[in-house]
Amino acid sequence: MRARARLRAVEARDLPGIVRIERAVFGDPWSEASFRSMLAQPHVLSAVLEREGAVCGYYVAWMVADEAELANLAVAPGERRRGHGAALLDHLLAEVAARGGATIHLEVRAGNAAAIALYRSRGFEESGRRPAYYQSPEEDALIMRRARPALAERGRPEAE
Ligand SMILES: CC(C)(COP(=O)(O)OP(=O)(O)OC[C@H]1O[C@@H](n2cnc3c(N)ncnc32)[C@H](O)[C@@H]1OP(=O)(O)O)[C@@H](O)C(=O)NCCC(=O)NCCS
Repeated sequence: MRARARLRAVEARDLPGIVRIERAVFGDPWSEASFRSMLAQPHVLSAVLEREGAVCGYYVAWMVADEAELANLAVAPGERRRGHGAALLDHLLAEVAARGGATIHLEVRAGNAAAIALYRSRGFEESGRRPAYYQSPEEDALIMRRARPALAERGRPEAE
């Protein structure tokens, strides 16, 4: 049986694993230096999912006043559809709620059906569109928002 994935705070030793997923998943990946400087900021919220020493997912967001923005959320390609993305997003929703956040915003590629379905499942709604916002390849961004993040429901299994 596979070990259960563990959700915890990001540590410096996680950066190579995070960047490996970032490069595998995004056309315009953040560098390790970008993650390092971002994660040093006090207004940044983040978490990593780890299984047997390997990073299998992460998110990075920030919060200014009562507004949060999700910047990056990804699950390693071999680890998907096991509830990891939902567990990471639920963790962010709980963090934002605990800090008195009123709204969470994010941008997502208009053709990213998996991510859009995940966000809708957690109460996000489309609030706008930015034409040709992304490059490599060029694509519109959907802007999604969720108001008044409630404490996330717990209890969903993170892994089999
Ligand atoms: C989006 C992403 C984070 C989802 O991670 P995941 O661990 O596979 O998601 P989960 O298993 O937690 O799925 C939660 C829900 O999201 C939706 N979902 C996830 N993947 C889906 C897919 N491929 N197709 C349709 N719905 C999907 C479903 O509603 C799912 O619930 P269900 O499994 O009960 O049907 C993952 O596909 C990923 O890393 N994609 C590349 C990076 C990315 O696009 N990040 C978002 C940038 S804005």
